This record gives sequence, structure tokens and C-alpha cells, in this order.
Amino acid sequence: MKTTRVALVTGANQGMGKQLAAELVSDGTTVFVGARNLDRGEAAAAEIGDGATALHLDVTDATSIAAAAQRIREDAGRLDLLVNNAGAATVGTDVRDLAEFRAVSKASTVPLEEVRAVWEVNVFGPLAVYQAMLPLLRASSDARIVNVTSALGSLATVADPASVYHWTFDPTYAASKAALNALTLTMMIELEASDIKVNLVSPGFANTALVNFEGTDTVEDAAREVVRVARFGPHEPSGTFTSWEGAVVPW
Ligand SMILES: NC(=O)c1ccc[n+]([C@@H]2O[C@H](COP(=O)([O-])OP(=O)(O)OC[C@H]3O[C@@H](n4cnc5c(N)ncnc54)[C@H](OP(=O)(O)O)[C@@H]3O)[C@@H](O)[C@H]2O)c1
Repeated sequence: MKTTRVALVTGANQGMGKQLAAELVSDGTTVFVGARNLDRGEAAAAEIGDGATALHLDVTDATSIAAAAQRIREDAGRLDLLVNNAGAATVGTDVRDLAEFRAVSKASTVPLEEVRAVWEVNVFGPLAVYQAMLPLLRASSDARIVNVTSALGSLATVADPASVYHWTFDPTYAASKAALNALTLTMMIELEASDIKVNLVSPGFANTALVNFEGTDTVEDAAREVVRVARFGPHEPSGTFTSWEGAVVPW
């Protein structure tokens, strides 16, 4: 009997996470649709259809993370794919658009509590989920972790004054993605001697809530690299940092 692949996508109730969940389900993968609001997770899972199961998961809440891991253990006994996709650009600050976000996100003036709140979601969240899910990934014979970052997190790119991203590098969202990249490297190094693969992906500029629907790519197009890498099999590489279509992104 063919064993179904089991995946968890965090922040999968909307945007690129939902797109990825739907594409994985279309492959026959069993997908836990992580959502900090269970009602929204259930609505997304119902829309995706059979193979998608809503899972309450707030990546900033240790109790929620532990309960999610326990639920996957009981339902599936293992995890073959973890996609750390959940992310936030703002948490406590109300901004009308990206221009206002950039204006209030200067290192000299940004409220520290806002930086901490965004880093809780984008940095400490994926690390906490990694720690909770690792025993389940170790129970798989073909396990992979895919962390979703941003081109803005590439320090080598943003340090270049000629880069289009240079002037948009901020201490809140962009620096959180650089920190996520660093944490991803620690995961890659820790798991180098194991069979568990780790990949880092930079999606396109998606037209989603995270960017106030100012993105220029459709959700489907922007998510293509995340989907491509999430579909990797046991013989495909670990330790990569790419954007579409396998273009190497500098760390
Ligand atoms: N949009 C872009 O252009 C772009 C570019 C580069 C990278 N990315 C990255 O791509 C990923 C997906 O973003 P998206 O563009 O698809 O945005 P999105 O549609 O806003 O989706 C973000 C998801 O993360 C969830 N989330 C936020 N805080 C959470 C928490 N504490 N616990 C669990 N889930 C939480 C959101 O839940 P709610 O629905 O409850 O808010 C939502 O499901 C993010 O990591 C983002 O940084 C996006």
C-alpha cells in the first residue's frame, strides 16, 4: 500500500501557505493546515478539500505548538514535510500601505515592542515549531523542512547600495527574515549528518494581506518556488537557498 506523505504548513489559512497546501493535497499529500484562528483554518481546509485538515497553531504560543505536535503524533505518527510559512510584517502597528510601513520602520524610531512582536512570529516561531516537530520528522524516512524567507533577508543583497532592496531594509520585517536565514543555517548544520533535509526559499512579491495586497505577482506565481522545493523527493538537495526557478539567492 502506498503511504501518503504527511505535511504541516504553518499560516496556511490564506495566501501562499494556502496555495501550497492546496497544491500538496493535489499531489495526494495529507496536509495539516496550520492556522492561528481555527475557524479560518477550517474554512481553508474545507475549500481545499479531502486531504486537508485544519490544525490550530499559533507559532508564538508554546501551548498551541505542543498541542499541534501531539495532534500530528496521534493522527499520523510522523511528519514528512514541515513548511515554516507563517509570517507577519506588522503586529501592533496600524499602517495604511507599504510606503507608510517603510516610513515608520526606521531603525532610529521603530517601537521596540513592534520589532519584538514581529520577530516572535518570523524568527522565534519557526525555531519553536522546529523544536516541537523534530521528533516527528525524525520518525519519517524522507523528511524535509522548508523555511519561507524573503529576498529582503539576503544580507549580501541588501548590503549592496545598487540593490533595489537596499533602501527597504528595515529592523522589523526584513531583519527578521535575515535572522530566520541565520536560524535556518543552524538547522541545516545541525541536521547535516542526518537524513532530514532543510531548504530556504524566497517567494515572489505576492499579492497578499502581508503586503497590503500591493504585491505584483499572483499568489500562485509567487508561491511557485515554495511549491517546487516542497515537492522535492529524497534525492533532491538540502542546504539550498533559492528563488524561482532554483535561482541561487546569496545568504
Ligand atoms: N507577500 C510577499 O510578497 C512575500 C514576499 C516574500 C516572503 N513572503 C513570506 O511568505 C510567507 C507567507 O506570506 P503571504 O504573503 O502568503 O502572507 P499572508 O497571506 O498574510 O499569510 C501569512 C500567514 O501567516 C499567518 N500568521 C501570522 N501570524 C501568525 C502566528 N502568530 N501564528 C501562526 N500563523 C500566523 C497568517 O494568519 P492570519 O490569516 O490569521 O493573519 C497567515 O495565514 C510569509 O513568511 C512571508 O513573510 C511574502
